[in-house]
Amino acid sequence: MDDYVVTVQNLVKHYKDVKAVDGISFSVNRGEIFGIVGPNGAGKTTTIECIAGMRRADSGSVDVLGLDPVKDSLALKRRIGLQQQESEIPDRLRLWEAMELFSSFYDTVLQWEALLKQLNLWEKKDSFYSELSGGQKKRLFVAMALIGDPEIVFLDEFTSGLDPQSRISIWKLVKELRDQGRTIVLSTHYMDEAEKLCDRVAIVDHGKLTALDSPSNLISIHGGHTRIQFNVGDVFDGESLSSLKGVEFIQNSDNVCSLEVSSSSAIVEIVKQLDAMGQGLDSFKIEAPTLEDVFLNITGREVRD
Ligand SMILES: Nc1ncnc2c1ncn2[C@@H]1O[C@H](COP(=O)(O)OP(=O)(O)O)[C@@H](O)[C@H]1O
Ligand SMILES: [Mg+2]
Repeated sequence: MDDYVVTVQNLVKHYKDVKAVDGISFSVNRGEIFGIVGPNGAGKTTTIECIAGMRRADSGSVDVLGLDPVKDSLALKRRIGLQQQESEIPDRLRLWEAMELFSSFYDTVLQWEALLKQLNLWEKKDSFYSELSGGQKKRLFVAMALIGDPEIVFLDEFTSGLDPQSRISIWKLVKELRDQGRTIVLSTHYMDEAEKLCDRVAIVDHGKLTALDSPSNLISIHGGHTRIQFNVGDVFDGESLSSLKGVEFIQNSDNVCSLEVSSSSAIVEIVKQLDAMGQGLDSFKIEAPTLEDVFLNITGREVRD
């Protein structure tokens, strides 16, 4: 039986004449890591804010844990945690004071000491908020989103601007939260992050949902061909490769041969053929499509800001 914790149907939200969300529908399963990805201005933050009860949708319906996020906002706030893309707290608040304060808002809380340790903030517990780096502030807001022992955690662009170590430690924490049975709804514009972390990914563009599936299904449906490259000498004849089954494209320039193949059996045939031709395979590289390719294939390559 389906066990949805969030159901969004035909969500529409304008800001004056800007249609930020244009009829989005999806459901989030209990216990999954659900990713929302899309270019800048796609409507990710607005969608998350409508689900978490921070904004009222113009039309459509949102159900979160059987509650209406606007009408039942108080009841919902006790059961969800939200890390917003842009948050601030008073500069002169020390970290431990902030954690104590936020703990006092909830009936059930997680140990904030443990959260600060997991997020590598323990040694900063006596520092003022104003003394934190950008990445430390970001991690503090993740800790605050978790303090109320939430059933659903919303993380909006939770790793932008973080160094690789912090990203890895937050990924680990997000997986632990999921393994504890919580649901995580996150937005990101890092495709490697969405691919590694999310059970399912929704691609949003211009306020519309353009694809929704597991990263591996998205890649096999929209990722395109696997690319192969290897170095060749001045005289290389690729004719015998281009006729192999599954070879979709071949180009030979600057002593590099590039191919695109539509099946893994084509790779085997290429290697066999090259071996028969006495071609060395030291530089042979296989690049399978990633979620980044899916994203670019679906949303295009022009820059948004
Ligand atoms: N508070 C606001 N007032 C006016 N326009 C906004 C506001 N917030 C977002 N927008 C606009 O709505 C669209 C969607 O924004 P947003 O939901 O923040 O997208 P994303 O999080 O995907 O970058 C953008 O065109 C953005 O400029
Ligand atoms: Mg945003």
